[in-house]
Amino acid sequence: MPSQLTKKQQNTVAFNDEITKRRTFAIISHPDAGKTTLTEKLLLFGGAIHVAGAVKSNKIRKTATSDWMDIEKQRGISVATSVMGFNYNDYKINILDTPGHQDFAEDTYRTLTAVDSVIIVVDVAKGVETQTRKLMEVCRMRNTPVIIFVNKLDREGRDPFDILDELEQELKISVRPLTWPINIGARFKGVYNIYEQSLDLFKPDKQHVTERVEIDDINSPEIDRQVGADDAQKLREDIELVEGVYPDFEVNDYLEAQVAPVFFGSALNTFGVKELLDCFIKIAPSPKPVQAIERKVEPSEDKFTGFVFKIQANMDPNHRSCIAFVKICSGVFHRNSTYLHVRSGKTYRFSAPTAFMAQRKDVVDEAFPGDVIGLPDSGSIFKIGDTLTEGENLHFKGLPSFSPEMFKYIENNDPMKTKQLNKGIAQLMDEGVAQLFVNQFNNRKIVGTVGQLQFEVIQYRLLHEYNAQCRWEPISLYKACWIESEDQEAFEAFKHRKHQFMAVDTEGRDVFLADSGYVLQMAQQDFPKIKFHFTSEF
Ligand code: G4P
Repeated sequence: MPSQLTKKQQNTVAFNDEITKRRTFAIISHPDAGKTTLTEKLLLFGGAIHVAGAVKSNKIRKTATSDWMDIEKQRGISVATSVMGFNYNDYKINILDTPGHQDFAEDTYRTLTAVDSVIIVVDVAKGVETQTRKLMEVCRMRNTPVIIFVNKLDREGRDPFDILDELEQELKISVRPLTWPINIGARFKGVYNIYEQSLDLFKPDKQHVTERVEIDDINSPEIDRQVGADDAQKLREDIELVEGVYPDFEVNDYLEAQVAPVFFGSALNTFGVKELLDCFIKIAPSPKPVQAIERKVEPSEDKFTGFVFKIQANMDPNHRSCIAFVKICSGVFHRNSTYLHVRSGKTYRFSAPTAFMAQRKDVVDEAFPGDVIGLPDSGSIFKIGDTLTEGENLHFKGLPSFSPEMFKYIENNDPMKTKQLNKGIAQLMDEGVAQLFVNQFNNRKIVGTVGQLQFEVIQYRLLHEYNAQCRWEPISLYKACWIESEDQEAFEAFKHRKHQFMAVDTEGRDVFLADSGYVLQMAQQDFPKIKFHFTSEF
């Protein structure tokens, strides 16, 4: 650092350096495509873990659908792996973990609001699957840059050109391969790195990094020597086709979420992972400005701001306590400083904020934009979406609720415990476990979720944490949609016509409960002045 700079200038340079070296991202995939394996291999490269298998043991077992308690226990254990930070080549990398189980999809959506980019893992044999498609929609809504890793090249799978076509069509984004596989399955020999013009030969190895063969360019006879003349020839033809079909890769197109670079490899065999990581640190964005309702917040601003994107409950039934995960948007967070909790207007000091490094969770004194800290919360201070600042009245946007897919009436099973039940329901909703709607016609409470599992979670937690008993009663609903209109008269007329199906959410917004796809379609047709939204933020 030049010595003629004043102390303040030096601090600013150091602060900006902390921001530019941060890469905060999530890995997303359909279950089984290899997200956990890839995460683990990235941690191996970062030296954050030393043997494969360390992350896997924390993974939610996909088969355990019948026993959610098991899942919750495992979720409890996985607090430490909710965020995995590590250093790699002078970069500070934060991987935000997303639950594999689709019943917790809402958690994943919210985590995506706290990342600056995403890596999507796709199984070469299965291509794009439902969960990948849904998650990509969320990335598209937020303009999040994505890199795609096509995994399991060591197994028989589809032709890479087919996969690329499918990625473009299904994920609705242009793609640009930056590596190219030489054969697949039993005959898989390696990948050619188009970006760096090098050849990586495949030697299955679960723990170590495969060696690289440097070559001058695609015509190098070294390729023939390494993979045989036939495969070398085929590779040259493929690359010619790739260069002909796909425009040159422009980093800005990726950063603007217009193009997704594609890598091929095998996470299990640690193959193609280093190429991915090396390119990722070069091109992936450092923390971006974050839009608040009031204004755009730049990471380099002096004053600290951050928002809660996830709340994880401790499963200890004897004392209710949570960890609120706060993404830092600007400034430096200092332990024991006083911050404003904007929603309540109260100030708090946090004496034990934790940072997450690989599998550990340590108390930290400071944290920078892009980092995620865990704030212990035993007094139910936090709610998803809450903003913390040094005093400014700011509200970060972009934590929408999505229209749930399953609905049930929640009823009190023990009239002596009404207070406990209401408190429990309110707090679980603040944590983002599910969504609550109150039907304006009969005043009954309806809980909406994305999966059956959440109903079981709520019932169990109400009993064990709040000593309240609930039961579920069926309601046949297709969708809950948030409605609005610029025409107040038309709005009131709609609410009047549909009064039996009108509800409010916990924020008091009007919600229309459509009992079938047909009813929704007819309502959209008959009431053109009403806008129907399928997420709560519009
Ligand atoms: P997920 O988090 O996306 O759900 O996937 P995960 O990493 O758990 O991988 C799912 C399965 O695919 C695992 O096998 C894993 O070992 C395997 N896998 C991941 N990457 C590759 C790869 O590159 N090649 C091959 N052949 N397999 C891969 P499993 O049998 O479910 O688990 P395990 O018994 O191996 O732990």
